[in-house]
Amino acid sequence: MKQYTADNLNKYFTFDDKVKPDAESLTKLIAIANLSDQDRESITQDATRLVEQIRSTKSPSLMEHFLAEYGLSTKEGIALMCLAEAMLRVPDSETIDTLIEDKIAPSNWGKHLGAASSSLVNASSWALMLTGSVLDDKHPGVAGVLRSMLKRLGEPVIRRAVSQMMKEMGRQFVLGESISQALRRARKMEQKGFTYSYDMLGEAAMTEKDAIRYRQSYSQAIHSIAAVCTKKTVEENPGISIKLSALHPRYEVAQQKRVLSELVPVVLGLARAAKDANMGFNIDAEEQNRLVLSLHVIQAVISSPDLADWGGFGVVVQAYGKRSDLVIDWLYRLSVALDRKIMIRLVKGAYWDTEIKLAQTEGLEDFPLFTTKTATDVSYISNARKLLDYSDRIYPQFATHNAHSVAAIIKMAKGRNFEFQRLHGMGERLHDVVLKQTEGRCRIYAPVGAHRDLLAYLVRRLLENGANSSFVNQLVNKSIESKSIAEDPFLRLSKDNPPQELSRPADIYGSGRINSKGFDLSDEKTLFDICQSSDLELPSASPLTVTEPMGISRPVSNPASKQVIGHVLECDE
Ligand code: FAD
Ligand code: 2OP
Repeated sequence: MKQYTADNLNKYFTFDDKVKPDAESLTKLIAIANLSDQDRESITQDATRLVEQIRSTKSPSLMEHFLAEYGLSTKEGIALMCLAEAMLRVPDSETIDTLIEDKIAPSNWGKHLGAASSSLVNASSWALMLTGSVLDDKHPGVAGVLRSMLKRLGEPVIRRAVSQMMKEMGRQFVLGESISQALRRARKMEQKGFTYSYDMLGEAAMTEKDAIRYRQSYSQAIHSIAAVCTKKTVEENPGISIKLSALHPRYEVAQQKRVLSELVPVVLGLARAAKDANMGFNIDAEEQNRLVLSLHVIQAVISSPDLADWGGFGVVVQAYGKRSDLVIDWLYRLSVALDRKIMIRLVKGAYWDTEIKLAQTEGLEDFPLFTTKTATDVSYISNARKLLDYSDRIYPQFATHNAHSVAAIIKMAKGRNFEFQRLHGMGERLHDVVLKQTEGRCRIYAPVGAHRDLLAYLVRRLLENGANSSFVNQLVNKSIESKSIAEDPFLRLSKDNPPQELSRPADIYGSGRINSKGFDLSDEKTLFDICQSSDLELPSASPLTVTEPMGISRPVSNPASKQVIGHVLECDE
């Protein structure tokens, strides 16, 4: 194991660890999981039973039906996701109408008619089909005139209908618009034995004003939740989850100094209030390029003597990240060094699509996360084993809606203290069954807030539920057998050899053309190399096709610092 280093995190988490080839990371993770063939066989059997039990209990929600029919593997599903992603932030009606026309008209909604197992989803298919034929005015003659008339009359109606549909989807995932409403609504599930971690919607603050608004919202929420923290331990009490990106408008690696001096006191203030209320306080995991920066903030906050003797500080670790096991080792070492207990919530990770897109558009050397779901499933189980082995210092919180991952944890836990977690609006049936059978603990992550702050969260949920590889999506699809949904990922890994990985960012255009190379500006070594190269001879640019000397070259300077970074000789007419 790497040594714990308090003072130089960037050296502990190297660039090579971040982009390690999948096969190398997986060999290590399989060894950590240390599951025999027999163990794996019995986990798969338990998971299959769970899937069958869930399928035989009450029917799936409207959202589950909807995403099973309009998942990301259909053209129509992608059109709806694009619409959802864009629509809530388009300010004017004219653009919304163009957007609806662009996304709805060209798709074949008719083929979904009657295909879903929910009559409400079939009704939506009717509505979308009619909308599509209204908007499609390629037909000439009287019919065409009538259609375009209908289209003019229909657009405001369609706009309202689509926006209403998105609002309905949003409502599925949000517990309340205010914390007091959410606390009231939580009572029903609390009576059944669930606890909550409230999440005040809002992230990626763009301005100081936003960051202050989000800070006040967390602070008021902690104050309100404190009133219902009536139990003796943080494990039994409700808690709060926060996002660091909500609390600082320049939460980025290049601004590390500023982040540490301005963000740390804010987070510490909130953590102190949570400690006083004896509640859990969790730092959500966001993008991989902010991982090391987030650990700097976490280390600075948790090291404060004000938080001594409190086991409520929590950190989220994403199993899809290549550095997940290193993060857990590092956090464990930190807890030993500080003589503190901490909580770690293990998730698979909600930013997969964004991460892949960023690495591809920026032409990075490789992806910082696994590119097959099987690899992430294996990593989840291996890291779960690690957390359970560290349970003298760590309180593991396993956040998953996947019956196989749950069955593996139950098998490995053997009497150790831990809890399961699920998102509000997801995984209800699985966790109802598990809570009854194990008499364990389950916490629900409950977003709270207004519509305007919901978009980013909603899009992550739609992508997650709409992917046909996702557990919740497969569960609703009765044509997939229970045992295949519950298949052992270690076995899947050995069958899929070599695994179907995505092309590296440099190779996304195939063999004919290499993608332009970008720089990972969140990596210390890359930044160091760039700084070093500024001492090199300055580059000079001149036209390639002109052989005769012409004009004089002019200096080009960095607009931020006025430093000259090269010279250019431009063509004349
Ligand atoms: P599964 O269907 O088993 O897994 C789906 C997941 O597999 C995807 O979300 C993705 O992570 C992974 N995956 C899918 N395709 C691929 C692929 N091709 N290559 C590699 N991996 C792939 N997420 C965060 O990022 N930060 C948080 O702070 C956070 N907090 C959460 C708190 C709670 C209580 C819960 C329940 C979830 C939280 N999540 C968070 C979201 C979480 O990451 C997703 O809900 C989770 O990934 C879904 O996994 P699953 O086991 O439920 O479902
Ligand atoms: C998200 O915001 C749940 O933290 C997770 O997607």
